[in-house]
Amino acid sequence: MADKVSVEERLKTNYNATGVAVMQAMYGDDYLSIGGNASTDELAALAGITQDSLVLDVGCGIGGPALRLASSVRCPVIGIDLVAGSASEAQRLANHRLLGNLASFTAADATALPLGSDSFDVVWGQDAWCHVPDKPTMLTEAARVLRPGGRIAFTDWLAGTGMSGAERAAALDAAVSRHAASAERYHDLLAEAGFTAIEYTDISDVFTEQYRAVYRGLRDRKAEFVDRFGARVYTIVADVNGTILRGFEGAAITGGRFLATKA
Ligand SMILES: C[S@@+](CC[C@H](N)C(=O)[O-])C[C@H]1O[C@@H](n2cnc3c(N)ncnc32)[C@H](O)[C@@H]1O
Repeated sequence: MADKVSVEERLKTNYNATGVAVMQAMYGDDYLSIGGNASTDELAALAGITQDSLVLDVGCGIGGPALRLASSVRCPVIGIDLVAGSASEAQRLANHRLLGNLASFTAADATALPLGSDSFDVVWGQDAWCHVPDKPTMLTEAARVLRPGGRIAFTDWLAGTGMSGAERAAALDAAVSRHAASAERYHDLLAEAGFTAIEYTDISDVFTEQYRAVYRGLRDRKAEFVDRFGARVYTIVADVNGTILRGFEGAAITGGRFLATKA
């Protein structure tokens, strides 16, 4: 419990107004994750999302994936995020873009969804669940709100087997992902939560390359970042992201895409 509270505190600092603004400058569009619309489109195609699918985006950030689904596929999406400011910014963007009829957002914890059972066609996650310490409860909640035959579709940062000791711990900690699951652990947890037809794709190379580009952009645009956020923030951000990149390159952090069906 104390651990959960400390992770929540770190997440709320990480994703405070400055943190979100820095990530926006690094990642672009409405995303707090690295793959952007291309990653959303790929997962949507894999999950077979159509305009008739009711989607729940768990860990929606400021709405990047959900707004993309609402604007491109035209499906209804509900997004939830632990950070109230992010959920309200997502709602503001949805309303501003006249997508409020399709996309709605609320603050909630992935492990205690304030939503009815058997309601959704797809539970979606885009690079968000690595932060959640209690993955068994999160996946049980995902299974509960899905209708029978509904699908869970997510990409995530995973715990790889690379690096060791303090270096490995630093990489996972920089990503606020000390509780990241390995691909095998996710597979087991999905099965325990009642999912079948579990498909996994290793996307570590894609994530590593994307993170290299993000880090390169951060260094190339140093003057712009310093001007906007100050030298102290730039130094912290460059340091943290350098540590994360080393984590990807050393395979302490890997990437995976999962699709599974609620029995
Ligand atoms: C890397 S960001 C990704 C956001 C979004 N999926 C995107 O692709 O832009 C991770 C998000 O997960 C959220 N998050 C972390 N733990 C959570 C939890 N227990 N419940 C709900 N959201 C959570 C964070 O607040 C953050 O917005």
